[in-house]
Amino acid sequence: MFVIIMGPPCAGKGTQAERLAKEFALPHISTGDIFRSAVKEGTEMGKKAKEYMDKGHLVPDEIVVGIVKERLSRPDCKEGAFLDGFPRTVNQAEALDEVLRELDMKIDAVICIDADEDALIARLTGRRVCRNCGATYHIRFNPPQVRNICDHCSGELYQRSDDSIDTVKERFAIYKKQTLPMFDYYRGKYPVININGSKQIDEVYDAVISSLKDICKLKEF
Ligand code: AP5
Ligand code: MG
Ligand code: ZN
Repeated sequence: MFVIIMGPPCAGKGTQAERLAKEFALPHISTGDIFRSAVKEGTEMGKKAKEYMDKGHLVPDEIVVGIVKERLSRPDCKEGAFLDGFPRTVNQAEALDEVLRELDMKIDAVICIDADEDALIARLTGRRVCRNCGATYHIRFNPPQVRNICDHCSGELYQRSDDSIDTVKERFAIYKKQTLPMFDYYRGKYPVININGSKQIDEVYDAVISSLKDICKLKEF
């Protein structure tokens, strides 16, 4: 099953993708996470990506597409994947179609998680991410068992450098301008599922699963 998860900043793409990937035993591929790992490792690509990320701008398509192509070519993606935060321009969506054609794969569904902008901005300050494995928490809505420690790997939790009010406003503006037009590209081409992301994490998850069930006619999971 190959599923794209899109939505504005803090909509819950990563939270839901992480859970779905576990449930379906498929890779969770987040371009944001890939860039953050590269920044942490201090690679040339990471240094370049950081310049864009800290301003809330998109990393250029030619960098992103190459990374995703390489990742999707790995054997663990043979049965599919949950793509989180990619594509996010029409150009990237076209490039992804081309990559999938080469790999003989196809998109089963495009999930768009959305919620009111003010509510999403309110989530921002409480987000914490594991420095080691990238797992996402929220101090109120999804707290770790021990404060500032990851449940999965005991890594230290930190606040993303692009989680400031100014940067997130820019990320919202870019989402509207560059990512929303992707809807027109996908509508009619693949099943597009709109999910209300303002509900609680478990409710959002149930809504996603139920829609995927309808679309993919999945029987057991
Ligand atoms: P990326 O990391 O993808 O950031 P984003 O799109 O802004 O989305 P977020 O990760 O902020 O939010 P999310 O939807 O994953 O929410 P989460 O689950 O964490 O990209 C970062 C940057 O990398 C971009 O700005 C760009 O520079 C670059 N980049 C990445 N991909 C690119 C691409 N394809 N092309 C070019 N550049 C690219 O949840 C948020 C918080 O809310 C968490 O604390 C969570 O616990 C909590 N929460 C989640 N769901 C709920 C809920 N239902 N109720 C209450 N709280 C909730
Ligand atoms: Mg994310
Ligand atoms: Zn961790």
